[in-house]
Amino acid sequence: MNSRTVRFITMGCQMNVYDSQRMMENLSQFGFRIVDKPQDAALVVVNTCSVRDKPVEKLFSALGRLRKLRNQEGYPRIVVAGCVARQLGRKILGRAPWVDVVMGPDHICQIGELLQQRELSGNPVVATEYLEQGGFSPRIGQPPVTPQASAFVSIIKGCNQFCSYCIVPTVRGPEHSKPLDSVLHECQTLLDNGATEITLLGQNVNKYSDQNGATSFPQLLTMVHNLPGLKRLRFVTSHPAQVDDALISRFAELPKLASHFHLPVQSGSNTILDSMNRGYTAEHYRSVVSRLRQARPDIVVTSDFVVGFCGETDQDFQATLALAQEIRFGMAYVFKYNPRPGTRAAAWKDDVPEEVKQKRLEMLVELIEQTMAQAMNAHVGREEAILIEGQASTLHAGRRYRQWFGRTSTNFVVNIDGPETPHTVGVGQLADVRILQSGAHSLVGEWV
Ligand code: SAH
Ligand code: SF4
Ligand code: F3S
Repeated sequence: MNSRTVRFITMGCQMNVYDSQRMMENLSQFGFRIVDKPQDAALVVVNTCSVRDKPVEKLFSALGRLRKLRNQEGYPRIVVAGCVARQLGRKILGRAPWVDVVMGPDHICQIGELLQQRELSGNPVVATEYLEQGGFSPRIGQPPVTPQASAFVSIIKGCNQFCSYCIVPTVRGPEHSKPLDSVLHECQTLLDNGATEITLLGQNVNKYSDQNGATSFPQLLTMVHNLPGLKRLRFVTSHPAQVDDALISRFAELPKLASHFHLPVQSGSNTILDSMNRGYTAEHYRSVVSRLRQARPDIVVTSDFVVGFCGETDQDFQATLALAQEIRFGMAYVFKYNPRPGTRAAAWKDDVPEEVKQKRLEMLVELIEQTMAQAMNAHVGREEAILIEGQASTLHAGRRYRQWFGRTSTNFVVNIDGPETPHTVGVGQLADVRILQSGAHSLVGEWV
């Protein structure tokens, strides 16, 4: 086994996907390269999520499996990074003493140095404290290790909202915006290296504010939108309380800004929204969506919901169903409330029985599937600009062939058929495609 091979196991949200890429960048400076099979790796990095207890348990079962892979010299080395590292810190070593490095989200740019410390001392290393400025590394001028057509750029980390159910503010720390010149430079470097789509990331991107407060999120959107080489711009996640007219008007002004808005609502009941400390009402949410639809009529709104939160009555849940019915979400993640340590709600009674949570989850998911099918069907017959992502092997009339796929601006996957592939088609290019039909989770189209 080459002692400079690494495998990543990345759990949780896009922020972790981004952080894993940054860790790989740091490791590449120490000569590491990625391998796919755990048995070929001299180092395994598990980038973890603590938002619900399931992904935390997933970490410990992964650590159990990794322990069995370890040889007499203690390879593969094991790093636990990310939100559970910050949440449990040294306690991880109590449950899994074979772990080599435990490092929080602020330390991703130091992974190589932390591993060196581990080798020199012969003991596990723990680095989980918050760093000034959120540990953002400027990354000036560094090309990506694995260039991609669709690239993530984290612009703000942490969260100051403290929703009563949510562990993120305690594991990711307070909000820190990346300096404006770093964001723009990072985007331009990605665009110069083959990216054509950029997704700006943060727990709440709306709170972006350059150091001196001179640049707001809507202003940043315009600046990134105008960088040479960009074909499509996306962002996640937005908080409904901070969607202002300046942001909404960007959907009328910026043609490369995708027609998709992920706007987690969590509940349709004002009583529950209040006890969740969300900071808006269902009426406010409805008004944001209707203004977005005025600015960009084809916009698809997607969301997150928590069902079965403390004190949620049938009536509260009916209000959630009514809101979902009215907004007609193009997609939504539905979660059963899961108490998290250190949150305000952890001290409250988790009083909705599991069967009721499950029933509510199923009812809401069924409704979301209906509105998702409607949103997808609305594309049939339209000509759409598809950002091509790649080719997949498919079987048609007994013959195996490669079929291109990509995404609509509204963020639906499209598989593209048709005998004549235009010669301009390639990964990262925009192509005109007529949508012919809508399947369960993707659309089918043909080249125009
Ligand atoms: N920053 C984003 C979401 C972060 S976490 C936002 O503000 O919306 C992603 C989703 O996980 C949340 O939107 C919420 O729906 C869900 N979630 C967070 N804490 C949870 C908990 N304790 N139980 C169940 N779901 C939870
Ligand atoms: Fe969690 Fe709320 Fe912050 Fe989102 S806004 S990360 S749900 S505390
Ligand atoms: Fe999970 Fe951390 Fe993201 S808790 S959802 S990986 S910020």
